[in-house]
Amino acid sequence: MLDSEDHSIDGQFLNDVIEGLSREQKTLAPKYFYDANGSALFDKICKLDEYYPTRTEVGLLSDRASEIAELVDGQHLIEFGSGSSVKIRILLNAAKGLASYVPVDISREHLLGAAESIAEDYPNLDVIPVCADFTRSFELPDVVEQGAKAGFFPGSTIGNFSRTEAHDFLAMAAGMLGNGGGLVIGVDLKKDPKMLKAAYNDQQGVTAAFNLNLLARINRELSGTFDLDSFVHDARYVEHKGRVEMHLVSLKKQAVSVNGQSFAFQKDESIHTENSHKYDIDEFHEIGRETGFEPDRTWTDENNLFSVHYLKVAA
Ligand code: AVI
Repeated sequence: MLDSEDHSIDGQFLNDVIEGLSREQKTLAPKYFYDANGSALFDKICKLDEYYPTRTEVGLLSDRASEIAELVDGQHLIEFGSGSSVKIRILLNAAKGLASYVPVDISREHLLGAAESIAEDYPNLDVIPVCADFTRSFELPDVVEQGAKAGFFPGSTIGNFSRTEAHDFLAMAAGMLGNGGGLVIGVDLKKDPKMLKAAYNDQQGVTAAFNLNLLARINRELSGTFDLDSFVHDARYVEHKGRVEMHLVSLKKQAVSVNGQSFAFQKDESIHTENSHKYDIDEFHEIGRETGFEPDRTWTDENNLFSVHYLKVAA
């Protein structure tokens, strides 16, 4: 099946959308937010007043850069889901003796562009990009595999994983980093629900545009017929699940088709598009212990909004 511009449809995207919209609670996977437009909107979110995680984490990494650098120096530093490789620069500026920097990302173009720019800016650093889906186990180049390894997983991306996915990822990372290894990971903390609601329902409507962009992407890439004016963004903090849920809510009873397949919506029915889990420090340490790590250091800001951990692989 070809679209009007004669680009073949991404089969995996189509299957996931059809499967998600066929569920009783309609669902779309958050990984599909990040087309070019979605990535640009996410960059805007990171700069919003209400969205505290990015600036708080950057502040923590900057304040603790030399301490973190001491923990990872001399090792191969593997970044899981490296994207534009921005936050890593804070550590690269402080860790002068890394064995290499290993950015891992599924988007080949993005990965190679970012790796090239790091290699240019840090001419003494060995940069070894690996194109892979970091949520599954993947092969490391021999030189990295055989050396001492540390991991870097910032941004509280772990929060977008279900509890099971978070366990699976951390267990995989512990196995990959091996004895003597450790993981530097950013984790958003539980806090006043009002602050969480504001962070995911910003005044300017950037998060709403980010959420709705998913429907625009389906229209464009999968011959979808979503009317963007008849869905609204909704972000709620679900306390007993410890997570912010993002939804797109249908304003009316309507039918929408995707690649010729029709889906019925009741008025007020939602598509669940993202979970963003928030953790207490003890709760996160417990998950670390359950997955093969020993919590070693934890840094938080003065308002206890965000945490950065160094989890050591348990002996
Ligand atoms: C990428 N991730 C950690 C963000 C979060 O806060 O869960 C994605 C996001 N969704 C809405 N705003 C930001």
